Amino acid sequence: MPNFGLGVFAPEPQSDGSLIIRILVTGGAGYIGSHTVVELLAAGHEVSIVDSLVNAHPAVLPRLARLGGRDPDFRQVDIRDRGALGSVLEDGFDAVIHFAGRKAVGESVSDPLGYWDTNVAGTLVLLEEMRRTGVRTLVFSSSATVYGNTAVAPFDETLPTAPINPYGETKLAVERILEALAVAEPEWRISSLRYFNPVGAHPSGTIGEDPNGIPDNLMPYITQVAVGRRERLSVFGDDYETPDGTGVRDYIHVVDLALGHVAALDYLARNTGYRVHNLGTGRGYSVLEVITAFEQASGRKIAYEVAGRREGDAAAAWADTRRAGEELAWRAQRDIDAMCRDAWNWQRQNPNGYGNEPTA
Ligand code: UFG
Repeated sequence: MPNFGLGVFAPEPQSDGSLIIRILVTGGAGYIGSHTVVELLAAGHEVSIVDSLVNAHPAVLPRLARLGGRDPDFRQVDIRDRGALGSVLEDGFDAVIHFAGRKAVGESVSDPLGYWDTNVAGTLVLLEEMRRTGVRTLVFSSSATVYGNTAVAPFDETLPTAPINPYGETKLAVERILEALAVAEPEWRISSLRYFNPVGAHPSGTIGEDPNGIPDNLMPYITQVAVGRRERLSVFGDDYETPDGTGVRDYIHVVDLALGHVAALDYLARNTGYRVHNLGTGRGYSVLEVITAFEQASGRKIAYEVAGRREGDAAAAWADTRRAGEELAWRAQRDIDAMCRDAWNWQRQNPNGYGNEPTA
């Protein structure tokens, strides 16, 4: 069992001998954060969420309570607000899982200062306040985007990094800060998880992905076409050097991704220092394969047209998953059919996402 006691606060033993770990989840109302909160609650941990709600909906909170069987503590806090974040941390935590950040590639090109401010300056505030309050265990949401477009898949963690947009630069900058911190102060335990392409939803359809405006990403676009919110999907390029000419990506079910964070916490209970792990399935699917899998899972036809390539897109990206398998004892279990079925189940039950519910 994890043996934290890493901060100034000793974990509380439960009747079965396991330990309650008190975890602060930044960005815990967002897409990946909310799914991770459910798995942390299921694992018996105590969870507090801070989220600014700039890119998340408060309606997620009562749904988390329903799925988790108890209310996670929630505070509406922007991580750049040192006073507010610091006072939450003073409540005492064993670990932080840090999702809060902005994540749209295109927006990062038009608003680089905003991205560096939230993603990098915000993380610095978090780290300083963690240190002040004696919390030195952190799991960070990184992204496969740090690999850029030059390497040939599969990507392993030793590849040189080469992000190609401000979003990717901010993720890499935080990774570098974390690595340097763990060298300077060896009592820290820090994990950076490089996500490939998270898709799908909780199998209950209670929580899922609810992007603001027109979706940038493939799966939410497909589900919005299926539910009638968008007319047709644009397939960005069919002339790549891939088997059917369309882009290939490593889609990973968001519940598998969430479980990767639980595994990373267990890893940090055994290891000090800094370590990077890919979270993906190790297998790529093309855009056309995803469309076909979704049509089979949903029984709906997805109208699409082939458009030009999207700037900055790579032909193919998928993970080398060996390190996560060996060191985290974690492996993605859910296949593309489950990803499509659960994405559809969420969208069908919530055609307008969280928007059609009164706010909490
Ligand atoms: N695609 C389409 N039509 C769309 C949207 C996407 O054809 O409307 C294609 C893309 O060209 C690509 C694939 O579907 O081939 C996946 O595109 P996504 O936008 O869903 O995902 P990306 O791989 O471009 O980017 C994602 C995240 C980033 C992250 C990156 C890491 O959105 O935040 O993975 O590799 F940085």
